[in-house]
Amino acid sequence: MGLYSGFAYGLAKQLDDVEELEDFGLLQNEMIFASVFLIVFLARFAYMRGTRPTALPSSTDQSAQRTKHWACAVHLAMYASVALIAASGLCIGGLYWTGTKTGLAMDIAVTVHEIAVYGSYVLIAGHVSAALWHRNQRDGIWNAMVPIWRETPRK
Ligand code: HEM
Repeated sequence: MGLYSGFAYGLAKQLDDVEELEDFGLLQNEMIFASVFLIVFLARFAYMRGTRPTALPSSTDQSAQRTKHWACAVHLAMYASVALIAASGLCIGGLYWTGTKTGLAMDIAVTVHEIAVYGSYVLIAGHVSAALWHRNQRDGIWNAMVPIWRETPRK
């Protein structure tokens, strides 16, 4: 849950403009926040990949396999977009800190940052709808996705 609140905090305190980084304290805080967030996020990703296999059932059914690959791709894209928000934020901060306050590199970093933010909104919305769909299906996937609010799987 800590990671989710961290991400929500990151989204809530968003900046509107590169010039706000003129405030050195703010720039420093943003850099520390994004670095810690990225490290914890990547560590969690590695841990989950290593210890928790997917809860989706294995099946020889072609269409079930396709759905599973699709779900896996959306999941990975979601992780990638969130990591990219923090990484591009660090690029913006790094450029600003070292004196490149405007120009092509800064424009690219800001554009990547914004695309990653909007991409993550779309993917997270898709992820939440999929969780709700599985709750309806009562196939046990919801319990793996939301461990604190249990539904009883259908017998
Ligand atoms: C996990 C960390 C971060 C999150 C979740 C985050 C989130 C956001 C969000 C939601 C926006 C608004 C996008 C929009 O509506 O256009 C934004 C914009 C921005 N962020 Fe971040 N950010 C993070 C890290 C950073 C860092 C480390 C820096 C630089 C030190 C930074 C610099 C900026 C700037 C300059 C903008 C405004 C871009 C513009 O000119 O439109 N962000 N960020």
